[in-house]
Amino acid sequence: MDKKNIDWENLGFSYQPTDLRFVANYKNGAWDEGALIADPTVTISECAGVLQYAQTCFEGLKAYTTEDGHIVAFRPDLNAERMENSCKRLEMPVYPKEKFVEAVVETVKANAAYVPPYGSGASLYIRPYMFGSSAVIGVKPADEYQFRIFTTPVGPYFKGGAKPITVKISDFDRAAPHGTGHIKAGLNYAMSLYPIVLAHQEGFDENIYLDAATRTKIEETGGANIIFVTKDQKVITPKSNSILPSITRRSLMYVAKEYLGLETEEREILLEEVKDFAECGLCGTAAVISPVGCIVDHDKEIRFPSGMEKMGPIIQKLYDTLTGIQMGRLPAPEGWVKTIL
Ligand code: PLP
Ligand code: COI
Repeated sequence: MDKKNIDWENLGFSYQPTDLRFVANYKNGAWDEGALIADPTVTISECAGVLQYAQTCFEGLKAYTTEDGHIVAFRPDLNAERMENSCKRLEMPVYPKEKFVEAVVETVKANAAYVPPYGSGASLYIRPYMFGSSAVIGVKPADEYQFRIFTTPVGPYFKGGAKPITVKISDFDRAAPHGTGHIKAGLNYAMSLYPIVLAHQEGFDENIYLDAATRTKIEETGGANIIFVTKDQKVITPKSNSILPSITRRSLMYVAKEYLGLETEEREILLEEVKDFAECGLCGTAAVISPVGCIVDHDKEIRFPSGMEKMGPIIQKLYDTLTGIQMGRLPAPEGWVKTIL
């Protein structure tokens, strides 16, 4: 298969349409078979549930070219499960897990020419999403839905790739204690636009959100979970019902324990403690693991000993091991890597 003529090494994290996308429609209480189509646009009612009341959720995962030339996706079954939870919380119909994984496979296969080559540092980002497509004017769930998947080749989420970033403690809240922080609802991202534009204007790369109830505990950033490494090399991550259960974070905690033999812990983490940690990283599909060099909390700066030049040693090991598994350089735990081609 001939690859597209793309400057893979210099891709940023932005959208470009690829050849085909998957579309399935939910009507009269059932999903249709779905199909791959060429049209990258969506036509829906002006009064669609998604447009009026933000009834939509999404997922994000990646396909990679492995060292031996296969195309694989990383843990798509977990994206299907998380989307099921998002759909239930938003009164949307579930798209069945086996069909979700099958649709991911078919969409990637159909766009294989856009999967970046091994060693380019880029990957094919896969975006499954669902929205209420029929008209609603009273506040209630729509009757009809679309489930779609598009793909787009991407490079690093943060400019500079593996260079440590600077993040701020946001004055805004991301998610309420019994709200929607634990699902991947579009509305969680709409609310983050004002704070992220502000953070960028102030020269920061991302926002760290605190728990909304007490504003004393670390939650996550706008688009990634957070891991810290303590000075005695323990890998810790916040435990909270209002953060997104990141698949990357869950995988990294496993890698830390089972591949690197490190102690791991998921627990409440106070902002107050952060100054005592050795390393920090943001983790997610888009972020992979992006090292954090500095956290700014108003007039206080927390500078990690790992500095602003390179990843700290443990974050680097986690990064190398996780990407090694994803690209087929290291053996993967059972079921983590789905071969597509
Ligand atoms: N947290 C938020 C708010 C996100 O948007 C994402 C991205 O998906 C993550 C965490 C990371 O999750 P995952 O590792 O499953 O991509
Ligand atoms: C992802 O990592 O897949 C996400 O959805 C994060 C988003 C902010 C790009």
